[in-house]
Amino acid sequence: MLDGEAIWDVRDSTLTIEEWGVAIEERLAQSGRSQAIFNIDPNDSREFDAIFIGGGAAGRFGSAYLRAMGGRQLVIDRWPFLGGSCPHNACVPHHVFSECAAELMLARTFSGRYWFPDMDGVVVSMKDIVDLFRRGRNGPHAIMNYQSKEQLDLEFVLNASARIIDPHTVEVAGHRFTTRAVVLCLGARPQRLSVPGLDLKGVYDNVNLVETLDYDPGKTAVVVGGSKTAVEYGCFFNATGRRTVMLVRSRLLKLIPDGDTRTYVIDRMRDQGMEILEGSELVRVEGDANDRVAKVVATTPDGPLEIETDFVFLGLGETPNSEMAVEALGVEVDPETGAVIVDDHLMTSVPDVYAVGDLIGAPMEMFKARKSGAYAARNIMGKKMPYRPVDWPDFLHTHYEVTWLGLGEEEARARYPNVVIIRMPPHNPNDLDIGLPASDRVMLYAMEKPRLSGFQKLVIDGDSRRVLGAHHVGYGARDSFQYLNVLVKQGLTIDELGDMDELFLNPTHFIQLSRLRAGQTILRDL
Ligand SMILES: Cc1cc2nc3c(=O)[nH]c(=O)nc-3n(C[C@H](O)[C@H](O)[C@H](O)COP(=O)(O)OP(=O)(O)OC[C@H]3O[C@@H](n4cnc5c(N)ncnc54)[C@H](O)[C@@H]3O)c2cc1C
Ligand SMILES: NC(=O)c1ccc[n+]([C@@H]2O[C@H](COP(=O)([O-])OP(=O)(O)OC[C@H]3O[C@@H](n4cnc5c(N)ncnc54)[C@H](OP(=O)(O)O)[C@@H]3O)[C@@H](O)[C@H]2O)c1
Repeated sequence: MLDGEAIWDVRDSTLTIEEWGVAIEERLAQSGRSQAIFNIDPNDSREFDAIFIGGGAAGRFGSAYLRAMGGRQLVIDRWPFLGGSCPHNACVPHHVFSECAAELMLARTFSGRYWFPDMDGVVVSMKDIVDLFRRGRNGPHAIMNYQSKEQLDLEFVLNASARIIDPHTVEVAGHRFTTRAVVLCLGARPQRLSVPGLDLKGVYDNVNLVETLDYDPGKTAVVVGGSKTAVEYGCFFNATGRRTVMLVRSRLLKLIPDGDTRTYVIDRMRDQGMEILEGSELVRVEGDANDRVAKVVATTPDGPLEIETDFVFLGLGETPNSEMAVEALGVEVDPETGAVIVDDHLMTSVPDVYAVGDLIGAPMEMFKARKSGAYAARNIMGKKMPYRPVDWPDFLHTHYEVTWLGLGEEEARARYPNVVIIRMPPHNPNDLDIGLPASDRVMLYAMEKPRLSGFQKLVIDGDSRRVLGAHHVGYGARDSFQYLNVLVKQGLTIDELGDMDELFLNPTHFIQLSRLRAGQTILRDL
């Protein structure tokens, strides 16, 4: 076992990215038994401006910002790397799996034609892809340790859990450090259900899937949940060639704000063979003699349902890791979600204790984790600035990339008397055999399977001519939405949009479509 005092002091070593990679890999393999990594004098008794507990997106960016402002920080993480869950078991594997889903949909659509192999009946190994991710994830970990130490001058302790003593004292690996402020950046964990059978082998969430999958699931996957995680992983399982049944207790993807967009997305999931059971709940999971999942029992609007399977995936949302802060400090939390409650300056109910990232609840997204860390740093350093995320652009993956900002058509019509819509294709895509929209990554669909080539919609206030919302299903538009959202919040009009210079074939087509209508004094739909 690890001696409480045993540390690896890296202050005087300049580790290369490769050397960091090896050191992290070794420590992950020995989990719980290896030395803590100290990039600080363990006996340093000077006071810090802030100690960030948790070195994920929120803690690392908060630390970097505070350091850049001339402050002194310490960031502590129980993993041997900085960067947290995003590269380890959340965003990055999700993007690997979503890319596989898109590639496999293309391969299956054109199976046996042109240069595509015959995919008929082919079931792709999930374990191979999980292994691919496991081998690749260490590179980003190593870069973040290198960057944090050599380029950002951060002080850190890794591979050791922090313990809060009081609002100004934190203990790690047997050493106590004092600070003006504590920033809680403890993240969140997958929510579990309390139904029988979930401890059987073969029940996964996004964390234990990448840590422990050691077999190739059979022909059927059952997914519980109906939001981003459930859909992203479900589409991947489906694309590998497995029957995929989604048990959704209410409605699938209700977070997509525009009705037509949501319908297009769900229709395409069904085209790929996904079985979507809304209004359905998991009752229990039954095992075989070896305690492996054998069967799922559910209720559906059509009555009870039993599905034989050896693989169940739970995508049920995230529970903030607030327990330690409640126990040690008594910080106030939301009784329903467990999220730590903060004021506009990200301070908790305990003075000098701040909380950021997933720990403070929705939206649990990288932009908020990083920005809330940076805003906490500003506030601690005396540059008082409020932060509440509002009107952010959003996205998810199915086999496609789905991106949106602002209002959907329904909400826009409820709020504005004269809503004008620009959309492509102009009618129900199921009725069309014309290849629009078309752009990179959907060109083959556009030529041969037009209804698979995507969907896009711009929602405009016909009176002020301002863009109210934008919605896109396809590939490659997400980047533009992060900038477009700023312009829309600043009051972007159809005329200004139509006056931009498009890099044709651009994935959204919004610029040229707006130009077709911008000449009108009284705007009409397109
Ligand atoms: C499946 C999935 C896919 C996602 N995909 C995306 C995406 O594509 N885009 C996007 O924007 N967002 C995505 N997210 C959300 C994103 O991953 C999170 O919002 C983000 O990682 C949160 O950062 P954080 O710093 O708050 O938490 P984390 O990154 O989880 O960091 C918390 C850190 O605290 C450490 N810790 C906890 N307790 C202690 C302790 N006692 N002592 C020391 N250290 C401790 C942990 O080791 C961890 O490193 C996804 C989430 C999931 C679940
Ligand atoms: N940007 C990305 O691409 C991305 C990807 C993945 C995750 N994330 C982030 O990570 C966080 C977690 O995502 P998520 O999709 O897992 O969570 P989520 O958006 O909170 O959705 C949870 C889903 O689980 C269902 N659910 C919750 N409790 C349930 C129960 N007891 N029984 C049955 N179903 C239940 C919910 O159903 P109801 O709708 O009925 O409540 C909902 O469909 C989110 O904040 C998300 O933004 C981001």
